[in-house]
Amino acid sequence: MDILIRPETENDYYENEVVTREAFWNLYVPGCNEHYLVHILRDHPDYLPEFSFVAEYQNKIIGNIFYTRSHVINEQNEKLDTLTFGPVSVLPEYQRKGVGSALIQHTVAIAKQKNHPAIIIYGSPCNYCKHGFKSSKDYLISTESGRYPHSMLVLELTKGVFQQHTWKYYDSHVYNFSDLKAEKFDEQFPPKVKEYRYTQEEFSIAIRAFL
Ligand SMILES: CC(C)(COP(=O)(O)OP(=O)(O)OC[C@H]1O[C@@H](n2cnc3c(N)ncnc32)[C@H](O)[C@@H]1OP(=O)(O)O)[C@@H](O)C(=O)NCCC(=O)NCCS
Repeated sequence: MDILIRPETENDYYENEVVTREAFWNLYVPGCNEHYLVHILRDHPDYLPEFSFVAEYQNKIIGNIFYTRSHVINEQNEKLDTLTFGPVSVLPEYQRKGVGSALIQHTVAIAKQKNHPAIIIYGSPCNYCKHGFKSSKDYLISTESGRYPHSMLVLELTKGVFQQHTWKYYDSHVYNFSDLKAEKFDEQFPPKVKEYRYTQEEFSIAIRAFL
């Protein structure tokens, strides 16, 4: 598939929210709220617009990716700035054709160029290990409460940057939004049926799994 990866522009905002809504709808919960996250990200101080990209196919946006600032702090209270991406979305009919991989690889290359030491995300290992992500436990990077979630994944860009220390990971507060506001926001979009899918069960198991 001949896709074009290009930076997001203001004209893409609504279309991108629709793409994200379509990609996540009913996948992890009945309905979804990731399109609201895309909407509020853009005004947040942790947002990194230079990492917002869309995948275009035949002049239509079929995928997108967004990044925020995050950081880790070690046992000596030293802070290291990291990157986090999410959401990353591909329209259902174009999934598993390499579009998500292209968006990830494109932005990882930019992160390397700009000397960012690492990308840390919450996501399914099924989607990200093929891009070099490893469990955060392999780098002794835990949550603030000292746990190692199954879904906390790290792509080390500066080799050895986490060595000799233990770390705690802090992602942007933008991810802690109100479900109620997200639900209200969704009312602006064409109606879609919220329903159960078995993938919601997989997600419910995954978010309660720790190493
Ligand atoms: C996740 C997502 C962004 C990936 O984009 P994509 O274009 O579908 O992915 P690609 O075609 O580039 O790569 C898919 C690869 O991921 C892996 N993968 C993805 N889903 C998988 C699954 N359910 N089981 C096993 N492997 C899976 C495979 O290794 C696959 O590689 P292959 O096609 O070479 O076998 C896209 O599927 C999507 O938008 N999903 C819904 C929203 C979402 O879950 N976003 C991520 C939140 S963590």
